[in-house]
Amino acid sequence: MKITVINATEIKGITFRAKEMFLEQFKDSAEITEFYLPKDCPSFCIGCKSCFLRGEDKCKDFEYIQKIDKALKEADLIVMASPAYVFHTTGAMKAMLDHLAYRWMPHRPSKEMFTKRAVVITQALGAGEKSAAKDIKDSLSWWGISEIYSTSFKLMSDVVWDKIPEKKQIAIESNIKKLATKVSKIDFAKPAKTNLLAKLKFFMVRMMQTGLGKDNPEYLDFKYWKEQGWIDKVRPWKK
Ligand SMILES: Cc1cc2nc3c(=O)[nH]c(=O)nc-3n(C[C@H](O)[C@H](O)[C@H](O)COP(=O)(O)O)c2cc1C
Repeated sequence: MKITVINATEIKGITFRAKEMFLEQFKDSAEITEFYLPKDCPSFCIGCKSCFLRGEDKCKDFEYIQKIDKALKEADLIVMASPAYVFHTTGAMKAMLDHLAYRWMPHRPSKEMFTKRAVVITQALGAGEKSAAKDIKDSLSWWGISEIYSTSFKLMSDVVWDKIPEKKQIAIESNIKKLATKVSKIDFAKPAKTNLLAKLKFFMVRMMQTGLGKDNPEYLDFKYWKEQGWIDKVRPWKK
């Protein structure tokens, strides 16, 4: 089993600890690839739109993005961990997600995403952990993923683990371990089920791409959809 982890900071703090608690269950059985942001995707998307219009390999940050994209595609499970920064995910995570906008369903989603599973772990000192999780889930679901598990918690005391009351530490650890146990029981040999919402999005985009292709058969996204067979009878959730 392969797990790809995206850490929204390089800090070995609470988020890191929470993510480690989750991964503990999988350490002996999984091949784990981790990315730390901003180190592994250090620049902002500048909005040139080259990825959409000319291909992702034209992005100035392709050397970073191709590694992340490959690891995400190959993973049986994606884990994304983030603290809340001003009520949202970190700027580094947002910058990485911006770079992967070309993987959103209206553009060129990876077929692998439709049958993949993901886990989102977020925390905040007092508030914002849920909106930080939503920032990440928006991308995961628009990449095509249906089976997304999530756990979020508030520290309500201190941002240093050893200063958090023991009772709170135990509650945090127990919630994360519960999720890890649940996820570890999944039969990863079986693909995740694509839900109705993902299929609805797919068919709406398919309609849009069919129209765009009539106007311009050379349009990159249309050509991709056509090559995948999605404009015809092929569906990414079917073998
Ligand atoms: C720039 C910045 C912004 C933050 N914004 C929030 C926030 O909006 N709400 C909140 O409850 N905590 C906020 N925090 C605290 C973090 O969510 C987190 O609890 C803290 O950084 C400890 O996590 P870490 O050890 O993984 O960095 C912020 C921290 C930083 C560094």
